Amino acid sequence: MGPRLDLSRLPSVRTLRPTDQAFVCGSSPPGPSSADDARPRLVRVTSTYVHGHHSSVLDSHGARTAANSAAYLLPHLRAGMRLLDLGCGPGTITLDLAGTVGTDGRVVGVDSAEAALDAARRAAAERGDTTTVFQVGDAYALPFEDDSFDVAHAHQVMQHLANPVAALRELVRVVRPGGLVAFRDADYGSMSWHPGSDGLDRWLETYRRTARLAGGEPDAARHVLAWARAAGLTQIEPSTSTWSYATPDERAWWGGQWVERARHSAFATQAVDAGLATAADLEDFATAWAAWSQDPDAWFAMVHGEVVARVPER
Ligand SMILES: C[S@@+](CC[C@H](N)C(=O)[O-])C[C@H]1O[C@@H](n2cnc3c(N)ncnc32)[C@H](O)[C@@H]1O
Repeated sequence: MGPRLDLSRLPSVRTLRPTDQAFVCGSSPPGPSSADDARPRLVRVTSTYVHGHHSSVLDSHGARTAANSAAYLLPHLRAGMRLLDLGCGPGTITLDLAGTVGTDGRVVGVDSAEAALDAARRAAAERGDTTTVFQVGDAYALPFEDDSFDVAHAHQVMQHLANPVAALRELVRVVRPGGLVAFRDADYGSMSWHPGSDGLDRWLETYRRTARLAGGEPDAARHVLAWARAAGLTQIEPSTSTWSYATPDERAWWGGQWVERARHSAFATQAVDAGLATAADLEDFATAWAAWSQDPDAWFAMVHGEVVARVPER
């Protein structure tokens, strides 16, 4: 089952340039903080977030819930936990996780992009959540003291980072010994669909090449165990789970947002800028997605790799 569909969230068309910055300035957190955090930080972001934050991307991510994207973590959560959601995007998963740890818990969503954080704050306001904090920060230099959290979570973030192991080590640093680090990433190389189409084959290849050029690893699911081990995590529980799109509503939503993303997202801009696609190719991809979404036999599956693991004693 893929992310829950809300057809009112179907993307509107708006042309934006990618907002990802080469550098981000970390700010002091209202949550766990130290005097150290008051110092301005200049943090290098070595990869470019390939999807960007066009409304088609944020709307797509906004359909995610803890149930459809973090089910492997939920049995480990308890009321009162302090939880960090790294790369929280528009925050819908973060806010669900906040509901799980309750009002005695503390949840902070961190993202390098203000556009995503603005969407997350709007989502919090819509839900009447006044306690979850959304703040800017970088995966490689989090603005928190050591041992600030019981749990760190990251959904579809490591796949976009040039050095996911360094980012995981940073999560290990900010989680107390014995606490949890949990992350889940997609695997574009093992996506499967029906019916086959040249346009979708070329879309996938172009996406994977663009993501790699941006510094990421689009076939991340198969690496999650290796990354967790390299980061020094222990008691690692690896698993997989799948999003699928096969009902008429699911097809219309998944295919529809990719029509928009092929035309308007940062992926489209970066693919053209890098010479990996022409404007005509992008239109072919959009046409292929539109045809797929309207085919009553159409089917799509996307495997994720996920890990929940313990931070060792220091
Ligand atoms: C695919 S989105 C996932 C968003 C959210 N976790 C979800 O699943 O809905 C990846 C997010 O990671 C953020 N991101 C990318 N690089 C980052 C970095 N170095 N530090 C913090 N956030 C980063 C992006 O801005 C984006 O919002």
